Amino acid sequence: MDLFTPLQLGSLALKNRIVMAPMTRSRADDEGVPTDIMADYYRQRASAGMIVSEGIAPSADGLGYCRTPGLYAAAQVAAWRGVTESVHGAGGLMVAQLMHVGRVACSSNKPKGSRTVAPSPIAARGQVYTDAAGMCTLDTPEALRFDEIPGVLDDYRQATANAFEAGFDAVELHCTSGYLPAQFLSSSTNQRTDQYGGCPGNRVRFVVEALAGMISVDGPGRVGMRICPDNPFNDLYDEDPQETFECLLAEVKDLNLAYLHVIRFPGRVDNIELAQRNFRHCLIVNESYDFQEAQAVLASGDVAAVSFGRAFISNPDLVKRWRKSVGLSDFDPNTLYTPGAKGYSDYPSFTD
Ligand SMILES: Cc1cc2nc3c(=O)[nH]c(=O)nc-3n(C[C@H](O)[C@H](O)[C@H](O)COP(=O)(O)O)c2cc1C
Repeated sequence: MDLFTPLQLGSLALKNRIVMAPMTRSRADDEGVPTDIMADYYRQRASAGMIVSEGIAPSADGLGYCRTPGLYAAAQVAAWRGVTESVHGAGGLMVAQLMHVGRVACSSNKPKGSRTVAPSPIAARGQVYTDAAGMCTLDTPEALRFDEIPGVLDDYRQATANAFEAGFDAVELHCTSGYLPAQFLSSSTNQRTDQYGGCPGNRVRFVVEALAGMISVDGPGRVGMRICPDNPFNDLYDEDPQETFECLLAEVKDLNLAYLHVIRFPGRVDNIELAQRNFRHCLIVNESYDFQEAQAVLASGDVAAVSFGRAFISNPDLVKRWRKSVGLSDFDPNTLYTPGAKGYSDYPSFTD
């Protein structure tokens, strides 16, 4: 088995095991509506076995960065349909990554009337870029009231239904990098005293219920989750990530998710070992794999696929380059989040 071997991943038939990792690129418009260049960008990368989209907000409250897309308004759903049709037309598959940033937000990046919410009213230390005023301090979030949580969970269910209406093949819950689900999981950000806080069994409840809602739309074969235990990104700290994630994966076991997308991280937990021990369906691994290491980990038989982020930025035809042993191009770090096609959809494919 290698990177070019097809894979059945839940309900999806992948033509190879080279997955494009989710990457926020800030090319949507100010209303969170995907733009035409996003259809170009994703179509150019459709030779991946599966593309995981940039993080997409399930609600206006879930937005926090500038020019990031949503899946809660009719215009967003219609524009995403154009993107998925482009990808399908080029023979690809596309997963919508649902990303609610919770407290990692600045109000000037959010639509009027939306709120910055989190499990507890504790601000993340840090800043975020805004088009209006440059770097801004992150908002102090409002704690979600107990009776508001069902509505937030329902946003994930509705966004899943919207994703399928927009033609996405599957959805992925973004459950790392300090965003809302990770804020519920971690002891530093979740200081609730109701049934969503306290012991690990309570702190994992939000994630389990979000997944159950997503699965209720069309079964578990089109739902995955992304994790990275002990990831400190966005000022996150959990006193015992091993215990928290053992608990989470035990609770998730019977949901029969199509896949678990695991980022390795040099922290207190061996994330891949933990996932292998606690998850029986397809495992996608990520973070700094090159072609040789990815081939070796697949040959070991312990994982189903490998995802690649940065390599896809400047190598839209990454799969072909690896097939033909062609060298990779470097990307321009200055255009990662700038508007327009430059450094986004204008990286050339190699010609043979
Ligand atoms: C520009 C950029 C944006 C990213 N945005 C997201 C995101 O929206 N959601 C997510 O889960 N990970 C995001 N990531 C992390 C990547 O999915 C991936 O985990 C990381 O790049 C490591 O993989 P690599 O070594 O193959 O690049 C982003 C990474 C980059 C470089």
